[in-house]
Amino acid sequence: MKRLLRWIGVGAGVLVVLGAVAYAVIYVMSERIFGRHYDAPASALTVPSDAASIAEGRRLATLRGCLGCHGKDGDGKGEVGADMKLKVSDLSDPATLKDRTDGELFYIIKNGKGDMPPEGTRLKSDELWSLVNYVRSLAKKNAAPEDKKRQ
Ligand code: HEC
Repeated sequence: MKRLLRWIGVGAGVLVVLGAVAYAVIYVMSERIFGRHYDAPASALTVPSDAASIAEGRRLATLRGCLGCHGKDGDGKGEVGADMKLKVSDLSDPATLKDRTDGELFYIIKNGKGDMPPEGTRLKSDELWSLVNYVRSLAKKNAAPEDKKRQ
């Protein structure tokens, strides 16, 4: 009888250990699946939006073909966009991006949107932030006078 009890004890112990392992595995997997977050930092800019960053953004935008679709002033009238008959956002119109956070712009440039192709991992995050700064600068020229004062 004692032996039987001992075996039951061992059996129960093994079950507990297996249970714990299963729990750990499921926990880690669910963290991977549900805890997945996209690197669209809600945080503010990590690159200051100064003239150097805007100039770098402009250089990258030329290099990466953004201007082909968005036009050299960001008005959405680039030749490539027109050829492809795309409805390209007018980035020079302050209304276009007024409700977007910098993090959202970062995310859109990185992952694309609708007919706009993603930049993905081709650009480093500093470079993506410079593009955000550049994109923001396009609308500033046309901002309402009181907005201009604030900037
Ligand atoms: C093939 C043409 C094309 C290229 C290249 C392109 N875009 Fe776009 N872009 C679009 C179109 C089309 C939209 C509108 C997407 C939508 O709203 O569905 C857009 C929208 C945007 C928006 C506004 C998104 C919004 O919230 O309305 C931003 C910002 C932007 N593009 C930046 C860029 C930058 C920066 C690059 C270069 C890295 C780039 N685009 C390259 C076609 C393009």
